[in-house]
Amino acid sequence: MGQPQVVLGVSGGIAAYKACELLRRLTESGHGVRVVPTASALHFVGEATWSALSGNPVSTRVWDSVEEVPHVRIGQHADLVVVAPATADLLAKAAHGLADDLLTNTLLTARCPVVFAPAMHTEMWEHPATQENVATLRRRGAIVIEPAVGRLTGVDTGKGRLPDPGEIFEVCRRVLARGPLGSATDLAGRHVVISAGGTREPLDPVRYLGNRSSGKQGYALARTAVARGARVTLVAANTGLADPAGTDVVRVGTALQLREAVLKAAADADVVVMAAAVADFRPAHYAAGKIKKRDGHEQPPLELVRNPDILAELAGTRSSAGQLVVGFAAETDDVLANGRAKLARKGCDLLVVNEVGDHKAFGSEENEAVVLGADGSETSVPYGPKEALADQLWDLTVARLT
Ligand code: CTP
Repeated sequence: MGQPQVVLGVSGGIAAYKACELLRRLTESGHGVRVVPTASALHFVGEATWSALSGNPVSTRVWDSVEEVPHVRIGQHADLVVVAPATADLLAKAAHGLADDLLTNTLLTARCPVVFAPAMHTEMWEHPATQENVATLRRRGAIVIEPAVGRLTGVDTGKGRLPDPGEIFEVCRRVLARGPLGSATDLAGRHVVISAGGTREPLDPVRYLGNRSSGKQGYALARTAVARGARVTLVAANTGLADPAGTDVVRVGTALQLREAVLKAAADADVVVMAAAVADFRPAHYAAGKIKKRDGHEQPPLELVRNPDILAELAGTRSSAGQLVVGFAAETDDVLANGRAKLARKGCDLLVVNEVGDHKAFGSEENEAVVLGADGSETSVPYGPKEALADQLWDLTVARLT
């Protein structure tokens, strides 16, 4: 196989300077890159920079090197097109099939996966026109990664920031690894909700009841779902991990907060995956001041009440007939028998059964599991990176989506 060919489209936003770093990562990791800026992009970063960093000629117009028919060839020969930053204007043009410069022509001729990394002010991102354009592009199979939240141009802060170039590079790498369009973006147009991490149930301002879930498996599911084209809502409980590029992250602390966030996001979701470790019990009372041990009172000051079972509730109250609900099971003994019983009890479609214990599953980079299906199926996933397990789980999920 030859060198993978990437087209880096750059539209006219201040974040164009960050695309230089993305370009450097792509070339250094062995990709051939053709940069196609818009005329506005050149106000931010000049032609010489793109040309020097890519080692290829750069043009914004269809009228240069006409004998090579660049408006058709560049798109035809690409294995991946990534547009970073993608402005509101560029997204609108792409959604409507306009072709008034080299980049928009390239977008119409490309038959490979296309990744858009939007960057703009929050108001522009949230405008119904932009949201409808994004939905149109996603429905057609494009991967539009959610902008990050943070500092924008000037004094403003909010959603609309270009994700870190290293993160966009990782999305590109995963998309390329999945091969040509079609099977690669099999979650395009789907909304998936993933919970990750472990809940903490506060006792007093100092202490909580918690568990050892790191959130890494849930985050791996989020990253791989983005690369397969999904719109991803990640409900993260106490993870301390960086937001994966292209996802909407909702941070929560307790089981009750996690329940509220997951049920809200699940209202229009195609798939809900409960990878979070949820506390089954919480303290009956929260003490506003630090609980003191008092001499002569040997009874531990701890009374617990049951938390709702979110997975069972999701499975029992699906927002649409086709919605899939996936759970995880952490078991130390009789792993498969307990897993089967849990699958039946919770009523979900798939259950990923993990054997947990010292140095197993929690906190590690690798995992192994058996995925049980409500249809009686049983799929063993061998020991390997958490992203490999995530991709296998998406394979099983996609096969069950109607
Ligand atoms: N779960 C949930 N709500 C809870 C507890 C667990 O939604 N209150 C979900 C977890 O996110 C996971 C699945 O249920 O997807 C199984 O979690 P696990 O801790 O293995 O099982 P439990 O239901 O807690 O059962 P047990 O403690 O008896 O093993």
